[in-house]
Amino acid sequence: MKFSINGQSVTFDGDEEMPLLWMLRDVQGLTGTKYGCGQGLCGSCTVHVDGMAVRSCQTPVGDLEGTSVTTIEGLADGDKLTELQQAWADNNVPQCGYCQSGQIMQAANLLAQNPNPTDREIEDAMYGNICRCGTYERIKKAIRSVAGDAS
Ligand code: FES
Ligand code: FES
Repeated sequence: MKFSINGQSVTFDGDEEMPLLWMLRDVQGLTGTKYGCGQGLCGSCTVHVDGMAVRSCQTPVGDLEGTSVTTIEGLADGDKLTELQQAWADNNVPQCGYCQSGQIMQAANLLAQNPNPTDREIEDAMYGNICRCGTYERIKKAIRSVAGDAS
């Protein structure tokens, strides 16, 4: 099957049941997407498929024919960070960093759908992305700053 990852066309002839997360990390070498629970429960593996946030550990490669996958490595425009990524840096959001690519991909999807979310909408959208380091307040602050509602 054929689809694209970060704008590059890829062909995959292996096991269609392989989770996208395995393909990204072990076949493509895109290790920015993290393995957390492997069960769709933590959000650390979040990527975009056709612009929508999905859990790559729960997405079989066989479902991806003709789609466009974006990972954290493909979010920026070359060396130019997105406004959201810059907000993450400006607000010193990460602690250990392990969950953060998934957090950013989830937040990017939220802002694409709802450019000015309320706190409640941010909490609802980010609810499934777990951070063992408890960076939730800084995550919210970074999202709010991009939404033009910093407080
Ligand atoms: S590793 Fe996919 S949701 Fe936890
Ligand atoms: S920054 Fe450590 S798990 Fe989120």
